This record gives sequence, structure tokens and C-alpha cells, in this order.
Amino acid sequence: MMEKKRVFLTRTLHDFALKELKKQYDIEIHSGKIPIPKKRLASKIKDIDGLICFPYDVIGRELIDCAKNLKVISTYSVGFDHIDTEYAKERKIRVGYTPEVLTGATADLAFSLMLDIMRRVSEGDRTIRNGNWKEIYGAYDYVGTDLQDKTLGIFGMGRIGSALAKRAKSFDMNIIYHNRNKVSKTKERSLGAKYVTFEKLLAQSDIISIHVPHSKHTEQLFDKKIFKKMKNSSFLINTARGKIINENHLIEALKNKIIAGAGLDVFESEPIGKNHPLTKIDNVVLAPHIGSSTKETRSKMAKITIENLQLGIVGKKPKFSVGY
Ligand code: DGY
Repeated sequence: MMEKKRVFLTRTLHDFALKELKKQYDIEIHSGKIPIPKKRLASKIKDIDGLICFPYDVIGRELIDCAKNLKVISTYSVGFDHIDTEYAKERKIRVGYTPEVLTGATADLAFSLMLDIMRRVSEGDRTIRNGNWKEIYGAYDYVGTDLQDKTLGIFGMGRIGSALAKRAKSFDMNIIYHNRNKVSKTKERSLGAKYVTFEKLLAQSDIISIHVPHSKHTEQLFDKKIFKKMKNSSFLINTARGKIINENHLIEALKNKIIAGAGLDVFESEPIGKNHPLTKIDNVVLAPHIGSSTKETRSKMAKITIENLQLGIVGKKPKFSVGY
């Protein structure tokens, strides 16, 4: 009998996913410290045929070099900036990821952060929980900002950016966007979105929502120079990757009211603890990297993660493949 192929998971997945994997493969699941320590992953990757990883697992060149039989890396995420995909390709290792299914959930989260920071929902919640709601209904109490008629600047008009535009349109917002390439006229019309330069996006937006991948071109792009170009009354939303923002500069900008507020689902280094400087600021809403975290979406992501693995492990192109 042919030996089963070996698959290693850096963390457990849904029961249905494990059941499916167990039918075909000899699987091992890392338990214990998350993320899996580098050394342990390096020793595991040596003899496996397939790897299932998460967006915080750094799969660099050095690690890939430890692999002798690896055919596929299947990440349970749409982002793949944690994987050296160029080198994987060179080594003929397929890389699978999970776009499309998490578009709606992530756009919803971006929208909820925008609503929350502009209407001060979490701040109000903290006020009540801390026993500080003393008087009702003052003319200036917890006044927020209307979304309607505000200009939403979408940085990155891919799947998630477009889904956010759809939602914003029904809230009567004006939509401008900046993207490497303009989207088609038909798409612009249907989304009611207008292309502008990056400089104009910064200057004209009341809210900027980031939907570009993290890369060497976007790393720390949002820094103090950029914040100065934004309106003092503007808000910044980030559900993409934390490293796109210079967090120290953002903290200064929020404290000094260079911009009005921010809604963040991602951070330079995750998780952040209760003593992180961002937790000391009221004009920011924080979420623990939950952009895709709905029961429906996460199940679909698990399904695709497995499908990608199943194809890649026999040398076929994964359903959602990075480049090759
Ligand atoms: C991803 O899939 O890359 C997201 O960050 C998950 O929320």
C-alpha cells in the first residue's frame, strides 16, 4: 500500500476540515505556543508534503530550504505577505490562499469600524462600563460625525475595496478611490466611485480605508508625512495589514488631532496587549484581527484551504493560487 502523504498544520482547523484531511493524509497538528516557534516548524517542514499555515506564520526562504518533499503551502488567509512566494515558486512549491469568500465579511468589518469610530459606539460603551455615564442627553454629549454626504477614500479598489464601496453607496457617501490601475468605467459607474491620485485621496477624503496588500511598496506608507496631508477631521480605517501604517506616527497623529480618529483591525505586531499605547487613546477603535471572522466565512476559508492543499500536493495548481 502506498504511504499516505504527510500534512502539517501550524494550528488546528474546523472539525469538518480535519476529518476530510485525515481521510487522505497522515496529519499532524501543532498544539502549544502560537505562532509555532521557528525551530519547531523548521524541523517539521523537513519531511512533509503539504503545509497548512496561518497569516502570522513567517514562511521565509530559510524555512523553505529545510523542506525536502514539500509540494504545497496552503494559507488560511487571503493575505500571503508572510510567505516568500517568489522563492516557493523557484522551488516549485505551490502556494494557495483564500480570496473571494472573505470579501463581504472583511468589507462589513471595515464598515463597522467606520461606523463605530464616527458614531463613538465603543467609546460610549466604555463610558457606561466604567460608570461614567452621569447625565443624560447633553447637546454636546458624544456627538459623532454623519456618514452621509462624507467622502470615503478607498485605497485599493480590489475585491474588498469594491465591496466596501457598495456598502458606502447605500449610506449616501461620496466615493473616491486610488488604485494601481483604474477600474473599468462600467465598474466605476456601478459603484459610483471616482478615480483620484493618491495625493487627492489624502486631501479630499473624510475617511480613508486601506485595502492594498502589504508589500515593500506599501510598508509603513502611512506615516507622519501622509497624516499631515489628510484632513484634521478625517478618519483612517485599516483592515488590511498593520505594517502598512507607521504605528508610532499614527499614535502621535491621533493624540495631536492631526487626524480625528482611526479604526484598526490589524497592527504592526499582533496580538497587542492591554498596555499598548493605542489602548490609552479614546479616538481609536480596536479589533483583534477579525476581518474574516464570521462562522460562514471561516468555514468557507477552511474548505478552500483544503481544496488548495489537495490540488497542490499532487502537483496541480491550487484553486486559488499565488502566481503558479
Ligand atoms: C487574511 O485572510 O489575510 C485576513 O487578514 C484575515 O482576516
